[in-house]
Amino acid sequence: MCNVKTQILSENDCEFAAQILKNGGIVAIPTETVYGLAANALDKSAVKKIFVAKGRPSDNPLIVHISEVEEIYNLVSEFTPAAQKLAETFWPGPLTIILKKSDIIPSIVSGGLGSVAVRLPGNSMTRKIIKTAGIPLAAPSANLSGSPSPTKFLHVFTDLFGKIDAIVDAGPCEVGVESTVISLLNDVPKILRPGAITFEQLKSVLDNVEVDDAVLAQLDENSQPASPGMKYKHYAPKARVVILNGSRELFVNYVNNHANPQTVALCYEDDVEVLKIPAVTFGKEADPYSHAKNLFDALRKIDEMPQFNTVFARCPAQDGIGLAVYNRLLRAAAFNVVNL
Ligand code: TXA
Ligand code: MG
Repeated sequence: MCNVKTQILSENDCEFAAQILKNGGIVAIPTETVYGLAANALDKSAVKKIFVAKGRPSDNPLIVHISEVEEIYNLVSEFTPAAQKLAETFWPGPLTIILKKSDIIPSIVSGGLGSVAVRLPGNSMTRKIIKTAGIPLAAPSANLSGSPSPTKFLHVFTDLFGKIDAIVDAGPCEVGVESTVISLLNDVPKILRPGAITFEQLKSVLDNVEVDDAVLAQLDENSQPASPGMKYKHYAPKARVVILNGSRELFVNYVNNHANPQTVALCYEDDVEVLKIPAVTFGKEADPYSHAKNLFDALRKIDEMPQFNTVFARCPAQDGIGLAVYNRLLRAAAFNVVNL
């Protein structure tokens, strides 16, 4: 789809956004994690428009968003006890649950798989749009495939203006990294993508939970990841990103010793004053939630600075929400980590 007239809507236009969705249109909507590009999940031709607008590979399945827990019953073949427990504890919120799909889910949504990913978002405006539309909404992140997920209206506008029917501008997203994706298809629940609902939180509710290998390690070319999205190149800025794993002091020394006019730092606000090179920041060191909220915006900023060919990035913590931030940064860096 090209040269579509894209309407810019405000938080007061939820009903209008819902109407467009009901009529088979595609609309970028805010959620608590990142902006999503929504369509009626049960309408194949509406969903097709999402893949075209984003340039998304057709085997990469979409998450289906609902506004009340009961809406999941039609979408899955069995709402298992583990899924019920997770839904009770973490919904509404940034957790996506993968279960066997029902026949109602078109194969374009599931990427040809026999499963479906379902999420009940924490953002009340998202739920209002879904509820008013009266349909489940398939919604990937509202970015062009391969660019960082959009956490601000401007990111969506830059990527998709002229390609989609409307964008609802609701300011910056609260969380800033996409939802935690957990698969309940096998005996042991598996985290396919870390997010704001953490491994530690999931472990406190489930008897057992594993983190998929692809979260922290590069897959070899021939392996089939549990989540098709993991095999695609993600969030790769034009410059080479090197993650520097070590204390603040070691980071600062390394960066200052390797400084040249083409290097830029991706670091915490507190680091800037001691660095000899320009820096783009992603939050305050002591506040891991600020790292999640700012990372994608920082990566987009770096892409607007063609004078730099190397990015020295501070390595986030790997527990709590830090695991999600580290997972996204690893992909941006093509797994290039230097242990200091
Ligand atoms: O926070 C979020 O989850 C955002 C907002 C808009 O809700 N959505 C989002 O969607 O991040 P997307 O399409 O960008 O990422 C969905 C991920 C992809 O990696 C996809 O491969 C995986 O979930 N996925 C979806 N359905 C799946 C399935 N049935 N089996 C395995 N992985 C699945
Ligand atoms: Mg995405």
